[in-house]
Amino acid sequence: MILSELKIPQHVAVIMDGNGRWAKQRGLPRTDGHSAGEEALMRWVRQGVELGVPEMSFYTFSTENWNRTPAEVKFLMQISKRIMRERASEFVDLGVQVRWVGRKSRLWKSVLKELDIIQEKTAHCTQMVVNFCINYGGRAEILDAVNAILQEAEAGKQSGKRKIGASISESTFVKHLYSPAMRDVDLLIRTSGEQRISNFLLWQLAYAEMVFVDACWPDTSGETLVESVKEYTKRDRRFGAI
Ligand code: FPP
Repeated sequence: MILSELKIPQHVAVIMDGNGRWAKQRGLPRTDGHSAGEEALMRWVRQGVELGVPEMSFYTFSTENWNRTPAEVKFLMQISKRIMRERASEFVDLGVQVRWVGRKSRLWKSVLKELDIIQEKTAHCTQMVVNFCINYGGRAEILDAVNAILQEAEAGKQSGKRKIGASISESTFVKHLYSPAMRDVDLLIRTSGEQRISNFLLWQLAYAEMVFVDACWPDTSGETLVESVKEYTKRDRRFGAI
């Protein structure tokens, strides 16, 4: 299949799995796997821009990742901060608008600060949106939306200016997700041979095509993304219709 025949997914979500195993196979500390993962992340972002993918989401730190050792959590928080600081100009040059998607509570204040800075620096970029899902969980996102809606309904009841009635529509619900502008996911890619969603973008994945890649994340490249898009191009998407 030649590149011009590719059907370009409008939103690619990526579960970058296998950093720890990649390091273990080489007798290295797990954290070296995450460092190598940073390079892979940049390869995918560059390839995404080159293909003309308008939006990509990367599962960087899940709400469950707090259960890792304190040393690994600290490393992941620090590498996230460093990536935002050191890579901001690269994102701007690529035309990538960075957005953070996740839950505020528990996330390190210093990480939130770097996220604010990079979001501001890249706000004018229009080539591609990159969502970093940090302290993100699909169930947490849905629950946070439900709770925000309940709060608004309650406030409306008390003020007499009701914005939310007895039932809500899909579009009202979406407005309360972490990133209401996020497109539905067309293609989910997970590396390292695992075939699970692991609480990633549960709402947005409703009709996503899934591609599972055997290689561990640090061993992947832009070519892995191209191959996954080729596979996606062959799929027949019917969205419940015939
Ligand atoms: C999964 O591998 C990877 C992660 C939980 C972290 C990925 C983070 C980065 C590559 C840094 C990027 C940071 C930003 C802000 C973009 P794993 O540790 O679960 O691997 P294993 O399943 O082999 O143990």
